[in-house]
Amino acid sequence: MENAVLIHGGAGTPSHMSSILEDILKNIKLENNALNMAINPVISMEDNPFFNAGTGSVPRMDGSIQMDAAVMSGKEFGSVICIENVKNPVLVARDVMIRSPHIMLSGDGATEFAREMGYEYYNPETEAGMERLKKFRGEVAKNGLPDKFKFLEKKSGDTVGAVARIDGNFAAAVSTGGSFPMLRGRVGDSPIIGAGIYAGEKGAVVATGIGEEIARNILSYRIYSEIGKERLETIVKREVDSFTVSCGIIAITGDEYISYSNTTMAYAYREF
Ligand code: GLY
Repeated sequence: MENAVLIHGGAGTPSHMSSILEDILKNIKLENNALNMAINPVISMEDNPFFNAGTGSVPRMDGSIQMDAAVMSGKEFGSVICIENVKNPVLVARDVMIRSPHIMLSGDGATEFAREMGYEYYNPETEAGMERLKKFRGEVAKNGLPDKFKFLEKKSGDTVGAVARIDGNFAAAVSTGGSFPMLRGRVGDSPIIGAGIYAGEKGAVVATGIGEEIARNILSYRIYSEIGKERLETIVKREVDSFTVSCGIIAITGDEYISYSNTTMAYAYREF
């Protein structure tokens, strides 16, 4: 069983961005710790403004930036929901898992916890994100808000994620600014155990795409629970192909891995 890490840059990211992800994996050093091996590339993607996570996260409709992130290794899980003004939400999610008695922290509580853990104020806003919001507001001013946010269905999630298999142990990490456009306080699949992320003794799974639909289908756990019954490729393709909105999956098991999406999705894989 080779040590391996598989990462993606989000449903909707053009495949040529895979070269950025390959460079990220080239710079990752092998650690004897599956959790760190999943988290480290996610930190690099959060720090790269081309990805919708950390710096570069898309703004909410009120202009604020609220981010979700989660980590899972074995039966341990930690996530932050709608956290604000931190550089690397995935690290705060890790600290929820290993330094708090909880598994999920949300909103002001998550941000306050981050400060207590020593994470300094950081503004993840980018010019491109604010431009996108300006354009959207212009469209709304002209045409009004589409009924029940139907426009969400056409947009990508752009979550970033990683799964790792190290010394037979599995871990997953995920981070996102959410699915544009969205209300303040909206929560997608990424920080919900079993929806956007799952890892256990059989493997690790991370999802990307429209969080509402992914969460309704408890997609990551559904795929995880099927591992070992059929080829991983068969399981993942069946689940992803059943989606009518943007959806992508990366998954790794003891002897298989797959990156698959019903839209474009940059990804990279490396064995160590
Ligand atoms: N998949 C990320 C989100 O919908 O928030």
